[in-house]
Amino acid sequence: MSADRQGPSQASRRKDEHIELASSQSPAAANDFDDVELVHHALDGVNAERVCLDTSIDGWRWPVPLFINGMTGGSAGSERINRALAVAAREHGMPVASGSVGVALDDPETARTFRVLRDENPDGIVIANLGAGRSADEALRAIELLEADALQVHLNAVQETVMPEGARDFSGWAPLIEAIVAASPVPVFVKEVGFGLSRRTLHRLRDLGVRVADVAGRGGTDFARIENDRRDTGDFAYLAGYGQSAVECLLEGRGVLPALLASGGVRTPLDAVRALALGADAVGVAGVFLRAAMQSETRAVQVIGAWRTQLAQLLAMLGAETVAELASHDVLVRGRVREFCELRGID
Ligand code: FNR
Repeated sequence: MSADRQGPSQASRRKDEHIELASSQSPAAANDFDDVELVHHALDGVNAERVCLDTSIDGWRWPVPLFINGMTGGSAGSERINRALAVAAREHGMPVASGSVGVALDDPETARTFRVLRDENPDGIVIANLGAGRSADEALRAIELLEADALQVHLNAVQETVMPEGARDFSGWAPLIEAIVAASPVPVFVKEVGFGLSRRTLHRLRDLGVRVADVAGRGGTDFARIENDRRDTGDFAYLAGYGQSAVECLLEGRGVLPALLASGGVRTPLDAVRALALGADAVGVAGVFLRAAMQSETRAVQVIGAWRTQLAQLLAMLGAETVAELASHDVLVRGRVREFCELRGID
């Protein structure tokens, strides 16, 4: 049985445990973003007021190259968090994704805990999230529930494997994704949940008709650790830190799909700039914004607003008036990531 299809109370309890365990993981002191060094050109700066943060996701204009990535919904605790995220998204024009709405498809009582994302943010970009393994019909219901502008489908085989009640058969995912893409009236983004998407996976997604993916790599929220902490035996601890980072995935995945989003381990606006300089079209943040939203709605608005402001300031500092210009900034890749590039034959 997929964990996305449990009884209502079990699924709801799991959502609250995810929030509690994820929020107790502090942002990594070091991750692969530290291996990405932007060369500083001290006289290149431009006027921050002239910086335009618009980005294009496969021809779709977003006002800011940042988004609040899919996290929660489906439990009492999650409704308050989604409301705070929705208000911050509305105030700062930032796209926001829901957590997996699978639980609401199985238990309509929980629908309002997701629906708050649209109700508080009627004109914003709202993205519905669903686990792989769901049908095209269920995907349409997920989109309808949120009047969503896009659908995220998450691939989470590592998480399911460690999850005591998780799925054990992943063999049917590809044809279901192909059917969802064919049926969806809105763009379908495929993402990981913190273990990365390889170049081979991006090629397979392209063959299924997917045009946009979010690499959601290692180095931030670690669902192998979260699910291991939910096990009585704790005997999957060795999978902590598994997978590839967003930086590695961006370097090997460039050019495969019309658009590539980056997330996983984005700790600061500087990490977001690093991802954009490596060619990401937009950058997703989950854990850092979760912790702000858990404090209060006011804190979520403040933190997410500061990220937006600082992003524009960093572009001005680097001499980029547009997000597209960042992609031509001089970047040095060091250490572990450089070794990954050598091993994978990436220039
Ligand atoms: C998540 N994430 C997630 N992803 C997804 O596609 N569907 C989901 O339901 C969830 N649920 C979820 C709950 C919580 C509490 C967190 C913190 C995260 C994963 C998320 O979208 C992202 O891929 C990872 O968290 C990595 O990003 P950060 O946290 O390192 O910025």
